[in-house]
Parts: sequence; structure tokens; C-alpha cells
Amino acid sequence: MSEAGTLRAEPIAGGAADGSGMATGDVAARPGDHPAAGAGPHEALLCVRNLTVRFGGVLAVNNVSFDVRRGEVFTLIGPNGAGKTTVFNLISRIYNPTAGEISFEGHALTHAAPHRIASLGIARTFQNIELFEHATVLHNLLIGRHTHRRTGLWSDLFFTGRARRAELEAREQVEQVIEFLDLQHHRDALVAGLPYGVRKVVELARALCTEPKLLLLDEPSSGLNVEETEDMAFWIQDIRTDLGITVLMVEHDMTLVSKVSDRVLAMNQGEVLAAGTPREVQNHPGVIEAYLGSVEDVSTLRRGR
Ligand SMILES: Nc1ncnc2c1ncn2[C@@H]1O[C@H](COP(=O)(O)OP(=O)(O)OP(=O)(O)O)[C@@H](O)[C@H]1O
Ligand SMILES: [Mg+2]
Repeated sequence: MSEAGTLRAEPIAGGAADGSGMATGDVAARPGDHPAAGAGPHEALLCVRNLTVRFGGVLAVNNVSFDVRRGEVFTLIGPNGAGKTTVFNLISRIYNPTAGEISFEGHALTHAAPHRIASLGIARTFQNIELFEHATVLHNLLIGRHTHRRTGLWSDLFFTGRARRAELEAREQVEQVIEFLDLQHHRDALVAGLPYGVRKVVELARALCTEPKLLLLDEPSSGLNVEETEDMAFWIQDIRTDLGITVLMVEHDMTLVSKVSDRVLAMNQGEVLAAGTPREVQNHPGVIEAYLGSVEDVSTLRRGR
């Protein structure tokens, strides 16, 4: 691991992954509670209030509220179709909410232009990797970094001193991310030729190149084997601890969830089921029922009914 501190060195809020040292009383939430999963005395980086989106007849997200505290790993869980990715798409401004508010560091995001999201300090990875397959790892990261640029069109066109400095700074920052995530070996490789597990790390790297304050990870372990999932857990912990970046994650692998999350919010059919420490949420009767329901559904499908 490189000198990660040069990438970002912000003080982080503590909190063990098992939730020890956390006040849990302020996170218990049931459908209809407002605000749910509140930040209590801690500082909220992201506030989601009564968020709702309807697609035709489908209420994909229904009255969801939670806060993500600065420096924590906050995880959304829930069966397929629960509305988790839709929450990410609402925060990223890919979708307009039907109702509700989202704010980030006190700025209202609800009607912000989608291109402002990265410059405000929010980056994300996707459930299905989204990279330029026929470009190298380095180029993908430089493109990712581009969303962070502060120079204007004229400055870029004439490659002025300011643009040149920005370019050098971008390259330096990208090289630090490559080192941080141990991608040196793949630096000049085309993404299309890389194993799936490496591509997941490249996507993570691209998000880090924007120097986010909040990183949204949509199923970081999907498609990874056990060993790669363990590595991913280490990366997430390092991103939080060494870089001080707050993480909002969607994840199905409960071992990974328990290992890295401070708090968890469970959703089902667009609604909040429960919130609390990983252990509290896993033991919540409504969560167990929702998952057993989905297991039953899967077995029904397998029987071909
Ligand atoms: N653009 C859209 N148009 C219509 N329906 C949508 C759209 N996006 C999501 N949905 C619907 O919203 C619901 C929630 O979908 P979402 O992708 O958020 O679930 P998820 O919790 O991420 O599930 P998974 O674990 O399978 O990824 C689903 O019923 C889905 O079909
Ligand atoms: Mg999803």
C-alpha cells in the first residue's frame, strides 16, 4: 500500500465494523418513522428524506429516509428489486424523485444538474461495470479524473500554464490511485483483456480519481470469488480509514457487509424495513422474512413454476 495520505487526509469518524462504540439507539427505524436512520449527534454528510420515485405503476422507492455520517461505511441491503440501485440513481441524479429531498453537505441535490454531482464530491461504481473497454487502465482513470478539472475551455484549448499544471496534477493523482489499489501491473493494459475481478478494482480506481468525499459502491463483490471479495473488503476499509472517504454501499454478501459496515439499512419493495448495526439488521424479523420470501421465490423459479 502506498502513502495513501497524499490522496486525501481528512479526519475520519471512528466506528468498528461490528458497530462497537456506536450509539445504536438513534438508528433504529421502521417504515413510516421520520427521520429514519438519523445521524443523531453525528455529522450527516448525506441526508435523504422521504424519498419516493414511481415508475408507472411501480413504487420503486417509497418514503425512504436515512442519513450517512461523515467517515462511516453505510450499507443498503435487501432482496432483488428492493429499490437499492434506484436510491443510488436518485442520489446520482440519473432519476428525478417523485417526492422527497436529498442534501449533501447541506446543499440540496434534489434538483442539481447531474454533471454537478461529481464536482460536489460524489463518485460511484455501477452494478454492471461501466468502463471504456477498449482504452487502457490509465486512460480510463484519466477520463475519470477529468470530471475534477478546474480549468476552462480557453485555458485547455491553448494549453496555458494553468492547464499544463492541472494536467500534471491529474497524472500525479492518477498514479497515486494506481499505486494505492496495486494496479501498477495493469496500468497500460486494455480493460477488455483484464479479468473481471481486476476490472472491478479499476472501476473503483476511476471513482477514486475524482477525489470524492462520498463513494457510492453498487454491489462491489458481485461476480467476485471468495478471495477477491476478501480483497475488496480490505480496499473498502482502506478507502475509509486511510483516505477518509465516506462509503455508501449496496451489497448482498452479508460477510462483506458485516466486516466493513458501521450501519446497515434494509429495504424491501421500495420501503425501509430496518436500520441499525449489521447484527441488529440481520436479526430483525422483518429482514429475515423478506429474505426467506426471496429464497422461496428463487426455489419456485428453479422448480420452473
Ligand atoms: N428506469 C426504470 N423504469 C421502470 N422501473 C424501474 C426503473 N428502474 C428501476 N425500476 C424498478 O424499480 C424496482 C427497484 O429496482 P432496483 O434496480 O432499484 O432494485 P435493486 O434493489 O437494486 O435490486 P437488485 O438487488 O436486483 O440489484 C424494480 O421493480 C425495478 O424493475
Ligand atoms: Mg441493484
